[in-house]
Formats: sequence, structure tokens, C-alpha cells
Amino acid sequence: MTHIAVLGSLNMDLVTYVARAPQRGETVTGREFRTVPGGKGSNQAIAAARAGATVSMIGAVGNDAFGQRLRDTLEHSGVDTDSLRTVEGPSGTAHIVVDDEGGNAIVVIPGANGTVDHLSPGDEGVIASADALLLQLEIPQAAVVAGAEAARRHGVRTILTPSPAQSLPPELLAATDLLVPNEYEAVVLTDRADPRDAAAALLDLVPEVVVTLGAAGCLYLSRGAEPLVVPAPQVTAVDSTGAGDTFAGALAVALGEEKPVREALSWAAAAAAISVQRAGTSAAMPYRPEIEAQYSA
Ligand code: RIB
Repeated sequence: MTHIAVLGSLNMDLVTYVARAPQRGETVTGREFRTVPGGKGSNQAIAAARAGATVSMIGAVGNDAFGQRLRDTLEHSGVDTDSLRTVEGPSGTAHIVVDDEGGNAIVVIPGANGTVDHLSPGDEGVIASADALLLQLEIPQAAVVAGAEAARRHGVRTILTPSPAQSLPPELLAATDLLVPNEYEAVVLTDRADPRDAAAALLDLVPEVVVTLGAAGCLYLSRGAEPLVVPAPQVTAVDSTGAGDTFAGALAVALGEEKPVREALSWAAAAAAISVQRAGTSAAMPYRPEIEAQYSA
């Protein structure tokens, strides 16, 4: 079985469903409110576990009710939480508005995630035992760099989702094998408007790049090979929150199982397509048999 380590954030998602997001100074009446376990790290861990991997989560929650629920949710999905610390203070929260087209806007308050600024004793051993390390940018960059460098020391593949978008230090890029930005993040990282140009520019920095393109699928580039455009299943989105995390988690599993790249990308796109048809973040993530049923080579 593929073993994935995830170093990253856990947030309680406070999600409001509304026809359209309010503009500045405007008050609107929404339709529904839910609290759903999320955070990019936790989402990727759950996506990978449901897709069929053994998963270890490295991160922190607060000693509040949200922290306990975040931990329980990971454990119910089969994720190992031995490296998940509980710290004094509030857990991370994400304040999310989802509109009728399934689009979202998010404000994250880091809470306990902000304390993850280094690797703790034992974390490097967990990373060393994995086939791949999944990273995102909702914890302090120092820990992301330390995690990536630890993975590199042990020959573990590093997969970085550069979200929330921010400039990446050279030492992080040097320790990244596969970068998985969405279109927006690719543009922010490169100052190029076209996803193909952005992906090409990113390929100067890391050996492999996947730019996710939402309903249009994804674009894959690796050094010395022809670019691949992989379509996504056409579905009606009700909530796209966490779709990128579902994609990254499922992709890590497929690559860990040594599926050919095109197949792995299609498989990940199938997982993401299922998740956008359901409300919620972790709650929307598919289990392996669902991915197999949706997937077409
Ligand atoms: O990528 C989706 C995630 O971003 C949400 O679960 C929210 O917690 C924010 O971190």
C-alpha cells in the first residue's frame, strides 16, 4: 500500500451557502451554514486515505472543541494522527462563502497551524518512511522547507500545492519534485497570464508541474517530455471548496502506485470531479470505489 505523509494545516471550515457573495458594505441573506472539517493539509490527508493510501498527518490543532473534531475526522478516515499535536489556544478556522455557481471565497485564521514552524522530534522519521510527502502553504514556510528538505534527504517524493499563493523561497523549490498550482497560483508565481506559459516558467524551477484548470482538467509538464493536457469529467459543481486538495491527494496515491502519469492525472481529475458535486470539503471527498467508477482511462 502506498504510504503518504502530509505536513500541513487543519481548519474548521465555517461555510455559508449564499446565492452570491456580498460586496463590500452589503448585507445579504444566505441559505445555509455548516461547520465542516477542512484545511488544506487535512483535506489532502483525507483525500489520499479515501483513495487507498496509508496516511500520516503532521500538524497541530488547538485544545478546543474544533481541535477534537478535526482529529476525530482524520481518524474516522483512517489517517494516523500520532504526529498531530494539540497545542494551547484555538484551532485554525476558515471562513468560507460558497455561491450558487459553486465558487468560493475564503479567509483563513491560522490558530494552531501558526505554531507549526519547525519539525518536531519524530516527524522526520514519519516523512522518511513515506513514498511521498504532501505539502501546502497554510503553515509557516520554515516548516514547509524543513519538511521538503527532510523528504529530499530520504529520497521521498515531494508534492507541493503552492496555496495560498505566495512567493516560494529557492530552498523550497530546490526540494520540490512536483508543483501543483491552480491557474491563479501559477499566474501569481510567474507573472504569466497564460497557464501554458506559466507552467513552462515553473518548469525552470522544479522538475514536474501540474496546473489544475478546474472544469478544463489539467496541464502537465515535465522536463524533456511533451506537455499533456488531461480533461476533467464534465459535471455540475455545487461546491468547489477542496477540489484542488482532493486532486492532490488522489494524484499522490496514483503516482505512488506507479500508474502512468496520464492515467494518474485522469484518476485524480475523476476524484476532484466527484468532490465538486457535493457540498462541504472533507465531507465531499470520494472513496476509492467511487473514483474507480467515475474514472475513464
Ligand atoms: O483548499 C480548501 C481549504 O482551504 C478549506 O478546507 C479551508 O480550510 C482552506 O484552508
